[in-house]
Amino acid sequence: MTPTDGQVTDRNLALELVRVTEAAALAASNWVGKGDKNAADGAAVEAMRHAFDTVAIDGTVVIGEGEMDEAPMLYIGEKVGLYAKSGGGPLADIAVDPLEGTSLTAKGGPNAMATIALAEKGGFLHAPDIYMDKLAVGPGLPNDVVSLDATMEQNLKSLARAKKCDVGDLTVCMLDRDRHKELLKACRAAGARVMLIPDGDVSGVVAVSQPEAGVDMYVGWGGAPEGVLAAAALRCIGGQMYGRLIYEDDSQIERAKSMGITEPNRIFRLEEMAKGNVMFAATGVTTGPMLKGVRRFGGGAFTHSIVMRSKSGTVRYVEGHHNFNVKPVSFIA
Ligand code: FBP
Repeated sequence: MTPTDGQVTDRNLALELVRVTEAAALAASNWVGKGDKNAADGAAVEAMRHAFDTVAIDGTVVIGEGEMDEAPMLYIGEKVGLYAKSGGGPLADIAVDPLEGTSLTAKGGPNAMATIALAEKGGFLHAPDIYMDKLAVGPGLPNDVVSLDATMEQNLKSLARAKKCDVGDLTVCMLDRDRHKELLKACRAAGARVMLIPDGDVSGVVAVSQPEAGVDMYVGWGGAPEGVLAAAALRCIGGQMYGRLIYEDDSQIERAKSMGITEPNRIFRLEEMAKGNVMFAATGVTTGPMLKGVRRFGGGAFTHSIVMRSKSGTVRYVEGHHNFNVKPVSFIA
């Protein structure tokens, strides 16, 4: 392929992204249950960074592992991809979370995964690494059926009306955190059912658009970078999502402004967090409702991934059978 053949909308590129998340998940799988979340994250980051070298893009990390001085790889602003050095390839903005669920991985808990989203240049909200208040519902509902400015009771009643069911039929998913105490109380008081998850709100948000997951609404504060990744996934699979950045001090407001966020208290809609043509890929590290984890056997492993594109709306699940005797991976060297 010549550098100008491809576009970031290229469907083959979506499958290339799976190879990158597979590499990160395989590397992280070596650390499942070993109690060292930093080592697990480091392994995923290194593998993902290396795997990007063959992807036919001139990419820039806009959601990454942190600033250049705090992250050796996949830092914000880092160039990645086959054309990163030479230029001439399709320009792409990249959002990565090489290991979503570092603590889950360290404990051998469920639902850890490696994730990537890709957009055309300027497609992603440049979210700082602070909290975001998130609200998401699935596809096929009236626009703005829920709002971050409404109460939990109002949102539940409105959603129940739109889904032609009772509030008691709805399930609300949120991270199990003390900061969600009031939210949880309000859900229960309204009669909704609740699914508390220990970590991993990318898949928590995506669950609203996966009927088999049984989640009607996602609410609560989680990482803003994870919010952008989840928004990219919902752009592909359908659904509505809103996000408002939460600032703990003035320096975080300044940081957001320096990243181009001119209205710090704005409620960002799905299309403002991930606009234009986007792609999303994830590979399970440990098994969760969305993906099976890496299953290792002597000399190899199985991986399970999801890949989707907003342009086609196609969602693919990819089973990888990896033979380490043919293609060695660094962690077993
Ligand atoms: P890590 O992979 O960085 O550990 O993030 C896991 C996660 O649960 C995210 O999915 C979520 O957005 C964030 O942590 C929530 O942050 P906190 O643990 O501070 O509540």
